[in-house]
Amino acid sequence: MNNRTTYSAETRALLDQLESIAGSNNDEFQTLPPQAYYSQDLFEIEKEVIFKQGWIMIGREDQVPDPGDYMAMRVCDENIVLTRDKHGVLHVLSNVCTHRWMPVCEGKGNTKFFTCPYHSWAFELDGKVRGVPGMEDAPSYDPEKLGLPSIRFETWKGFVFINLNSNADPLNPQLAPLESEIAEYHLEDWKVVKSVEWGESPWNWKTFQDNGDCYHHIGAHPETLELEYPGHLSYSVPNNGAFTFIWSPMRDKLLTEDEAGKRTPGDEPLMSGLTERQRTAFCLIYVLPNYFIFVQPELAAVARVFPTGPETIHLHTDILLPPHMLDTPETDAVAELIAAGLTAVHTEDIEVCTKVQQGMHSQFAKRAPYSLLETHNRDVMLFVTRKISAALKNGFKQ
Ligand code: FES
Ligand SMILES: [Fe+2]
Repeated sequence: MNNRTTYSAETRALLDQLESIAGSNNDEFQTLPPQAYYSQDLFEIEKEVIFKQGWIMIGREDQVPDPGDYMAMRVCDENIVLTRDKHGVLHVLSNVCTHRWMPVCEGKGNTKFFTCPYHSWAFELDGKVRGVPGMEDAPSYDPEKLGLPSIRFETWKGFVFINLNSNADPLNPQLAPLESEIAEYHLEDWKVVKSVEWGESPWNWKTFQDNGDCYHHIGAHPETLELEYPGHLSYSVPNNGAFTFIWSPMRDKLLTEDEAGKRTPGDEPLMSGLTERQRTAFCLIYVLPNYFIFVQPELAAVARVFPTGPETIHLHTDILLPPHMLDTPETDAVAELIAAGLTAVHTEDIEVCTKVQQGMHSQFAKRAPYSLLETHNRDVMLFVTRKISAALKNGFKQ
């Protein structure tokens, strides 16, 4: 256990600065200090007080639809597996064998039970011990105490969020204000049709979340997003600190009027029941720290971000479609088309995020002003500084 005096003078100065930002009225509307995006010490604190205390999205219920389905992943220092047991009940379990800490499964699949690859202990998909070879006479062996521990989770609109802190406030009430913006999409009925694995990216997790503004369409996406969704039209909806939310309306000339005089995008069949804003804009929802979803009337892409170091993240994207577009002869082709579009835009984002992550190491890099189109970024900054500051005030010791 360390306390603050064991940190370097640089880290202490950074923590002091973050506390001071959290305590100010933030009229200045400025970025975080650049050091906050590469400090190893700050990253270790963020892992403890943001990622291990916060709601982390690990996938969707429809990615394990059948009894026996499972999906494993690594979240910070934990191996986790999402399962559906033989009764159809969803579980999130520690994927660390209770014998000698081997992951009992990897990737995604379907099985009647897990068999640990090290000494073949077997576990049910609800975590209970199923059977072990050669332990019957072992003095401290008690199968009742050796099941895979359950991890707290909640589902929200089909997304599964875990929390490693069993005392954390429940998630669903915190996301309730989003209902008035997005209820009509009925995201709970959508399904994942394709996954895109980006592997490890050379960015701090906040560099990725900061890239969620629409202001950058003009510079980073002039031939893609900016053509249809000009960044200067975007605006944030006030939030309660648990999420941020942005609308990015379509360029006006792309809209036509239907027979009822409603303005719609001209060349697409649209879901019924959407509000005019939902039909003529995309929205971005961020549940900090690791969830980001982009929703258009007939497509959505959701990102899961897992930090692997101060300047590395593991990034995974799933493409979702609404019910009427699932299981049709065109579904696969539509999914491929969306993946190609997503790749084109993300390639542009890779370029800027990678260079920004390098640029912030300059001795000349300083805090800088945010535009009023960057309220999302301001809110990411406040989320981080307030979590860090509260933890330090409560005597957080690493
Ligand atoms: S580590 Fe799993 S059975 Fe030994
Ligand atoms: Fe972008």
